[in-house]
Amino acid sequence: MAKKTLFTRRQTLFFWLSTFASLSLLTSKNAFNPRQIDPLSRKFVASGNMSIGKRALIKGLSYGAAVNKNSLSSNPQLAASIDKECVIIVPEWELKWDFLRPTSTSFDFRPADWLAEFARTHGLLFRGHTLVWHEALPTWFVKTINSHNARQLLLEHITTVVKHYAGNIHSWDVVNEAINLQDGRSDGLRKTPWLQFIGRDYIEIAFCIAAEADPKAMLVYNDYGLEYDTPEHEAKRKAVLNLLKNLKSKGTPIHALGIQSHLSGDETRFNSDKFQKFLSEIASLDLKILITEIDVKDKNLPVDIKVRDRIVAATYEDYLSVVLNEPAVIAVLTWGLSDRYTWLSEYQPRRDGARVRPLPLDANFKRKLAWNAIARAFDNAPQR
Ligand code: XIL
Repeated sequence: MAKKTLFTRRQTLFFWLSTFASLSLLTSKNAFNPRQIDPLSRKFVASGNMSIGKRALIKGLSYGAAVNKNSLSSNPQLAASIDKECVIIVPEWELKWDFLRPTSTSFDFRPADWLAEFARTHGLLFRGHTLVWHEALPTWFVKTINSHNARQLLLEHITTVVKHYAGNIHSWDVVNEAINLQDGRSDGLRKTPWLQFIGRDYIEIAFCIAAEADPKAMLVYNDYGLEYDTPEHEAKRKAVLNLLKNLKSKGTPIHALGIQSHLSGDETRFNSDKFQKFLSEIASLDLKILITEIDVKDKNLPVDIKVRDRIVAATYEDYLSVVLNEPAVIAVLTWGLSDRYTWLSEYQPRRDGARVRPLPLDANFKRKLAWNAIARAFDNAPQR
């Protein structure tokens, strides 16, 4: 067991980087040389030029990213970068209810079909996100759903969508973000229309419908807020574990847990031992694990790009080195590939207005230290 240190490497790094970054602001006449601020001299050197996807494949793993039709169809550089770096893609929007369901009696598969065709023609795996969620629900849904039609709505949606892609899908996020301890239920379930109008069995029912529609697809429960050593994340890990144990005990056809992994560069409360233990508890339920939406928020980091990129890279490396040590982990997807299209520009913008930099490629599709960190994590991962 590695010797316990008072501060983790990243906490030390973050402290020194922030200290030196603020000192350099005070002595602005001196050129700010980020290399002098990195006491741990982590160089994030990645060997060779091989793509992350190929490095993952060598270890029996998959790497990919979330994409949307708008950006992928309009930017050849993004398309080329996805083709080069990824072996799997997931639609950021196009398989959610608000895209798929213009009315209660119709489906529009065109945007998602375009992405499925992109995956097929580029030899990429294609995963589905997400069949049951409390967000991205069309206005007609909220006006229509009630305790008499909710089960039928769930059955029709999942059956139609899963059958449409049967044989061409790697895995489905069947249910997304069903746990929310702030809602106060003893089982930790989020108070959603699904829970309200079907009851707590809606999760089991959703997985059974999906398995019936495509017996070959890997069926995933996906959630966030599981990663850090905080009381909230610890409580949510327990609630998710209980949910999965309950589902498995009933023979529910569930095959994996998706851990979204939306990390924060300024969050230093990551306990590798505790998280490794959580991952092995999930694996002990005979479940695989996918890191489904990883990115690193840099909203509260120093504005200097060299400092920010180093902290973001360290966050990726420290987290993924733990994650990829767990043999049940089979895939890692970043929620986007280039900073140019990250959702965090809208959802977690920096107060200073600087462009956020949470992903492996910058806004000009150039590899960043985050790319090196992810590449190194796969290079150092145990062979599957
Ligand atoms: C986000 C998209 O990236 C945004 O563009 C959209 O406006 C909202 O949804 N967890 C999830 C994803 O499971 O579906 C969310 O995607 C990000 C958080």
